[in-house]
Amino acid sequence: MLAVGTAVIGSLQFGYNTGVINAPQNVIEKFYNETWLDRYQEIIPKTTMTTLWSLSVAIFSVGGIVGSFSVGLFVNRFGRRNSMLMANVLAFISAALMGFSKNAASWEMLIIGRFVVGLYSGLATGFVPMYVGEVSPTALRGALGTLHQLGIVVGILMAQIFGMDVIMGNDTMWPFLLCFTFIPAVLQCCLLPFCPESPRFLLIIRNEENKAKSVLKKLRGTSDVAADMQEMKEESRQMMREKKVTIPELFRSPLYRQPMIICIMLQLSQQLSGINAVFYYSTKIFQKPGVEQPVYATIGAGVVNTAFTVVSLFVVERAGRRSLHFLGLLGMAGSAVLMTIALALLENVPWMSYISIVAIFGFVAFFEIGPGPIPWFIVAELFSQGPRLRLSVAGLCNWTANFIVGMCFQYVEELCGPYVFIIFTIFLLGFFVFTYFKVPETKGRTFDEISAGFRQAASAAEKHSPEELNSLGADSQL
Ligand code: GLC
Repeated sequence: MLAVGTAVIGSLQFGYNTGVINAPQNVIEKFYNETWLDRYQEIIPKTTMTTLWSLSVAIFSVGGIVGSFSVGLFVNRFGRRNSMLMANVLAFISAALMGFSKNAASWEMLIIGRFVVGLYSGLATGFVPMYVGEVSPTALRGALGTLHQLGIVVGILMAQIFGMDVIMGNDTMWPFLLCFTFIPAVLQCCLLPFCPESPRFLLIIRNEENKAKSVLKKLRGTSDVAADMQEMKEESRQMMREKKVTIPELFRSPLYRQPMIICIMLQLSQQLSGINAVFYYSTKIFQKPGVEQPVYATIGAGVVNTAFTVVSLFVVERAGRRSLHFLGLLGMAGSAVLMTIALALLENVPWMSYISIVAIFGFVAFFEIGPGPIPWFIVAELFSQGPRLRLSVAGLCNWTANFIVGMCFQYVEELCGPYVFIIFTIFLLGFFVFTYFKVPETKGRTFDEISAGFRQAASAAEKHSPEELNSLGADSQL
């Protein structure tokens, strides 16, 4: 609990900074306007404001792209735990930049701060699921893996609550709201030294068998860790046999192509579902249908978000990853259609504003059933140790799609009006079909069994023609 709990402070930071710019949008835009007026003696043009705000929101994901892609530079060199510790430097720098941006009358500082905290978050989305997956016993890997997402959603909720105007979402306090990220960073720095290093890192990367064993004993609370050691050794042996793969090879080799494509599609399904249109812009979305207190509706979305992540946590080991994922996608598509109907009818039927709230709550709830938590940890499950580092590619796709949604949503919404959610519906249905036919179940299987499944499918693919393979059903199973 200590190890996983401390690691997911990183997830909390990611969530906090995802949600923090939602509620105070108007207040911070006012600061941009005043600064602009001071500098250029004119009111900021509307399109410039849209661009500056979209940039402030979305540059976070540019940081995320760079951060997630750099994960591989750290984890094997410094270890998983120390990498997490080092990343906090970025959290401190960003807290300072954003916290002092008002005093310095500089929105540039705020934007750079968002980039830096994005770097931190990108690293965290690599470090945390990897560390959590590697310290957890197989039977609990899904449930503990979901804690990464739980950290994220609690972070989002905290940011939404703190962002209310009576707390910190007002003209004087908003710099503190952004600077708050400093506190979890301090907490994590104090706790990490008490957490064990990942036993997989110690054994497989460092070859320190005794250390790995003693860490495992501590983690499992028993002195009989032979089965775990055996599994890690098997994985290590397997890894020796595999040659180093480059990124293009990941797509060319029949062994990796399938898991790679699945990883990428799952990441894309998470982001192109449109979830962050809600978490970045819900206050604005709710303002349009005339919801009286949009901030409360935003907080409501945060509460639903958290509640359903907890639901997922409890059912993921029973229901399995695959079924929860496609159930979630389908439910989101239904909610997006409801949202579109509500927004389209709004002018004539005022109570549709309530339906729009219900639709967003449904959208968020179904997201957390599957597409929220599952892509994060299933990716770590689909690869053996060597190419597991290719998680970077998955992270890169996730953050790039996150960036596209964050940057474009306001513009597309101006263009499409109430029909903007139709775009997400189309994506959701596409990903539903993909998941249904292509994603294997990983519940209850060891890392080694999972990659053995792909190996068998790949060698079958070499022996059989695609038609034969389809009739064997091997393609859809693994
Ligand atoms: C997932 C997504 C993140 C999103 C969050 C919402 O973790 O990766 O971008 O903001 O879920 O709960």
